[in-house]
Amino acid sequence: MLFGFDSEQIHNFTIKALGGISNSTVTCDLLQDFFGAPRLPVRLCGLNFPNPIGLAAGMDKRAAAVPVWEALGFGFAELGGVTWHAQPGNPAPRMFRAVKDGALINRMGFNNPGAEAMADKLAAWKQAERWPRHPVGINLGKSKVTPLDQAAEDYANSFRRLRSLVDFFVVNVSSPNTPNLRQLQDKSALDEILAALQQQQVPDDPKPIFVKVAPDLAFEALDEILELITPRGLAGMVATNTTISRPETSSDPELQRIYAEAGGLSGKPLQKRSTEVIRHLFRHTKGTLPIIGVGGIFSVEDAWEKITAGASLLQIYTALVYEGPGIAGQLVRGVAARLEQRGMRSLSEAVGTAV
Ligand SMILES: Cc1cc2nc3c(=O)[nH]c(=O)nc-3n(C[C@H](O)[C@H](O)[C@H](O)COP(=O)(O)O)c2cc1C
Repeated sequence: MLFGFDSEQIHNFTIKALGGISNSTVTCDLLQDFFGAPRLPVRLCGLNFPNPIGLAAGMDKRAAAVPVWEALGFGFAELGGVTWHAQPGNPAPRMFRAVKDGALINRMGFNNPGAEAMADKLAAWKQAERWPRHPVGINLGKSKVTPLDQAAEDYANSFRRLRSLVDFFVVNVSSPNTPNLRQLQDKSALDEILAALQQQQVPDDPKPIFVKVAPDLAFEALDEILELITPRGLAGMVATNTTISRPETSSDPELQRIYAEAGGLSGKPLQKRSTEVIRHLFRHTKGTLPIIGVGGIFSVEDAWEKITAGASLLQIYTALVYEGPGIAGQLVRGVAARLEQRGMRSLSEAVGTAV
């Protein structure tokens, strides 16, 4: 029924409802009874994840529903994308459903309240003692008003303000919806950003920093980014963001109309390419660099494919829209069953086994 309405309106309605639920321990506990996941612990980058299925960036851009993701079975949540300056994003409509393909197109353009307001919201959840037990990360983007050559300062400002409040950060240089942002995936531009963040780290409590890449990057460009791992102390990669490409064949007029919209494509059509990127990153680093795999994970089979291609943690966005709130728990249970079938005692034993 909800699919009869505008995508963004449903999204806002849902997040608002989840935000309401988040305020009450009783309703969160009820949700947890229905949708919670069993434990499937992963230890990565010094953090303890109760299970490997996380909420991908873009779903909770304002930290409106921080406590609810745990109740819905997630093992971690990446909030944002957050920019230093508050911004409205692109004009609506800016989110479209390609239902027949299990896909979404979005050109939100980092609509978010800005790092200051985000920090206040996070602090408020902590003060209300509603902070989840799982790790929480922040996806950092560049403010639209900030010129590309001042990007490093923009990212560093957000990082400094939010640093003490969360467990890890993801530098997003791969969104297709901020003009020229993806040029920051260029090695020297990215180096400048990571150096600026490194300067803001507190030595006693350094926060793991991941870089999120586009599925549209050539392997050579990925390899250049990997050269920054050691000099900039990169914690890992998030692979991948949405793609600007479109599925090759589609004679369906409705799909053709949606695929003609500008923006990033997520969901099932992204699944294969994002796995290829994960496999490449794993191979190139000989499995030494943690990878968070994201892109078109709908089923246990999809999740397993990404784990065995080299992902130590996974994230979902589009499947939550199409499959509903039980999806994280289903994936955790399915992955746990596969490990058991194979006599594996932890997820790490399966990571990269198909590379
Ligand atoms: C509406 C929407 C907004 C998104 N916003 C962000 C964002 O702010 N930052 C980011 O790094 N990725 C963002 N993403 C990308 C997702 O985090 C994820 O990488 C992508 O959707 C692929 O995963 P999926 O196929 O499970 O959806 C967004 C995706 C969607 C659909």
